[in-house]
Amino acid sequence: MNAIETRSLNLWYENFQALRDVNLAVKQGEVTALIGPSGCGKSTLLRCCNRINERIRGARTEGSIRVLDTNIHDPNISLLELRKAVGMVFQRPNPLPISIYENVIFGLRLHTPSGQLKRLTLDTAVEKALTEVQLWRDVKDRLHQPALALQLEQQQKLCIARLLPLQPEIILMDEPCAALDIAGTEGIEQLIKTWAGTYTTLIVTHNMAQARRVSQTCAFMLNGELVELGPTEALFGNPSDSRTADYIAGRFG
Ligand SMILES: Nc1ncnc2c1ncn2[C@@H]1O[C@H](COP(=O)(O)OP(=O)(O)O)[C@@H](O)[C@H]1O
Ligand SMILES: [Mg+2]
Repeated sequence: MNAIETRSLNLWYENFQALRDVNLAVKQGEVTALIGPSGCGKSTLLRCCNRINERIRGARTEGSIRVLDTNIHDPNISLLELRKAVGMVFQRPNPLPISIYENVIFGLRLHTPSGQLKRLTLDTAVEKALTEVQLWRDVKDRLHQPALALQLEQQQKLCIARLLPLQPEIILMDEPCAALDIAGTEGIEQLIKTWAGTYTTLIVTHNMAQARRVSQTCAFMLNGELVELGPTEALFGNPSDSRTADYIAGRFG
């Protein structure tokens, strides 16, 4: 089954067309990577999947997007529920200037009527989420210290951890390692690999080697068009479009 499916998706920023007839299919439980040169529309496409593009003035879309078998432009859809099911991680780790503990449960508090969360529920959620992102051992003795004191890799893991108490099904990642060093990048890639099957992941990366390491399916974009979508090894080993071949051979971009 496809966790995300777009049909003839077009997007304009005022008069500039940033997406052209995009048909993307993201298989449930898999890691799908979006690659392509800077400015080709990767982040734009990612932001369509949880409708945060709508915050951008002048952005207008046509075509359909189904997420978890629901048309996300249906007027009855709850944006809050959509964004709970579809979590997002950005290029710069962006923890809130509060404690590690409070960062992890921030979303849970936001989504639960006040007074209904018991200390034990919160403690359990914090330990579970931090364990899942392999951060628990590092931070368990300083949960109430500021999140911004953590190293960048730890901050990025925390940004992933704070999605988990909401039990997302899909995680969107926009160049999640761009601000990290080699060790940090390896740490995040490791995580992405371990949660295959648990979460559906759509990751934007300008790093082709990274796309190859972490994804099962890969999509190549150029000038707002989705040029090619297929199994990662086939796309890199035997691309069917000459533009894909030129890009992965480093002939442009
Ligand atoms: N908020 C915006 N307003 C106007 N144009 C934008 C906006 N965001 C992105 N664009 C333009 O849309 C195109 C695609 O951008 P983006 O999706 O960020 O590409 P990528 O993530 O592949 O680098 C670029 O030409 C960019 O300049
Ligand atoms: Mg981008």
